[in-house]
Amino acid sequence: MNVLWWQRGVVYQIYPRSFQDDNGDGIGDLAGIERRLDHLADLGVDGIWISPCFPSPMADFGYDVADYCDIDPRFGTLADFDRLLAAAHAREIKVILDFVPNHTSSQHPWFVESRASRSSTRRDFYLWRDPAPEGGPPNNWISDFGGSAWEWDEASSQYYYHAFLKEQPDLNWRNPVVRQAMYDVLHFWFARGVDGFRIDVLWHLIKAEGFPDNPPNPAYDASLGLGEMHRVLQIHSTDQAEVHVIAGEMRRIADSYGERVLIGEIYLPLKRLMHYYGREIAGVHLPFNFQLIEAPWNAKGIATMIAEYEAALPPGAWPNWVLGNHDRPRIAARLGEAQARVAAMLLLTLRGTPTLYYGDELGIGRIEIPPSDVRDPRELREPGLGLGRDPARTPMPWDGTASAGFTSGTPWLPLNPDWRTRNVARLSEAPGSPLALHRRLLALRRAHPALAVGDIALLDGDHQEHDVLAYERRSDGDRLLIALNFGARPRELCLPSWAHHARPLLSTIEDDAPPVRAATRIVLRPDEGLVLGTD
Ligand code: GLC
Repeated sequence: MNVLWWQRGVVYQIYPRSFQDDNGDGIGDLAGIERRLDHLADLGVDGIWISPCFPSPMADFGYDVADYCDIDPRFGTLADFDRLLAAAHAREIKVILDFVPNHTSSQHPWFVESRASRSSTRRDFYLWRDPAPEGGPPNNWISDFGGSAWEWDEASSQYYYHAFLKEQPDLNWRNPVVRQAMYDVLHFWFARGVDGFRIDVLWHLIKAEGFPDNPPNPAYDASLGLGEMHRVLQIHSTDQAEVHVIAGEMRRIADSYGERVLIGEIYLPLKRLMHYYGREIAGVHLPFNFQLIEAPWNAKGIATMIAEYEAALPPGAWPNWVLGNHDRPRIAARLGEAQARVAAMLLLTLRGTPTLYYGDELGIGRIEIPPSDVRDPRELREPGLGLGRDPARTPMPWDGTASAGFTSGTPWLPLNPDWRTRNVARLSEAPGSPLALHRRLLALRRAHPALAVGDIALLDGDHQEHDVLAYERRSDGDRLLIALNFGARPRELCLPSWAHHARPLLSTIEDDAPPVRAATRIVLRPDEGLVLGTD
């Protein structure tokens, strides 16, 4: 099997506003990322995905792009980008950019022109509609950030569609001129040397012809606080068959540059998600698999999920796993530090490409953002539901100096309250720290083909009923057993016969206590994950 870098490798997501500020404005930048590449090399990641760094009014912190082929001055210049790319490549770290094709900023020149008049040549770049016959928005579609997804434009007396903020008008991907213009963006960056793209809300690109109402969601319960978007089922506003043609066209472009990767952001049930790998025509290389972010944290449920995901993969499709991103609560905030360590071992020993979210290697946990510091438009539009994304976007704490070494100015969001002890410098020195664990997991993954590219087989048995998830990874002669205790009690696991002589290569609890075991059994301590091997 010819294994490509993005299959063998580990991807690390950087939220550029929050990684490292180099010019003292309190916002991270590209020069800052370049300065911190050593951290990423020490950690052992193979690629970085940088959330949008293009010129933007920042209504949605860069996911509202005003120019796809430049760098926002807050983040630097194209020259800074080229320097970062070269410096990353010199360390054998690939660079993945964030492509935001579904919508532009309302300040993008295309939208300014489109809005100017009904006869503008760019009118059809966006989705303009007359009011419903009885007045009001053309249909019942709801923005993912709450409220109607249609915004009235007084001057031209029509509504335009925005799946997110009104400052993020959706492009009309049925227009071939739009398509070509956006494909030109891919060419621009691929030719510059970027190694791939994460594609923002890929499943949103095409909407049903005729814009029919979405059906009400029978399970909607406002008191659950999941957000108003769930009042309807987004069956006409997202995931239309034609989107796969577009994914295929993007794939052809990526493949024409060699070993580049496309990772699609898609939140859909398993069967529909799998379609994004492509059927007759190839789709994206990796449709993001967000199940670990969403699943209840128990051994049995996660074992079932892994089995179903593996079984659903189309032939030749490469799996991938994610524990956190800039839109979702941090894993240690959700599970606490001890289980977050188990989760890290799971993420980095499953079959498929893992994406690690910046700061999770430090075990950053719950952070309360005081109301006056809230910046996320999602939180500002539907406050108090716990949907705010600021707690997952706080600055990376580097050391014990002022503002944790993130900035010489005032950080744009508060730091994690424990930054004086939970920072890269401090945790680098602490043998049992989450950072040390991540480094060891990544090193183990590099050293063992079984982990990087091997098969996976879940261990049968009733241990799943007792909080233990166990699986084997295997590649030729290399064979490992991973056993994870999801609970707070010690648990015994019967070992398969090949593992009777295996020894722990790594535990999530790094101390000198010898493992309690007989040849045929091993005891996992509370919240302990183990990798066992025979070498
Ligand atoms: C994606 C991004 C999110 C953004 C949204 C609109 O879901 O991850 O941060 O708000 O798209 O672009």
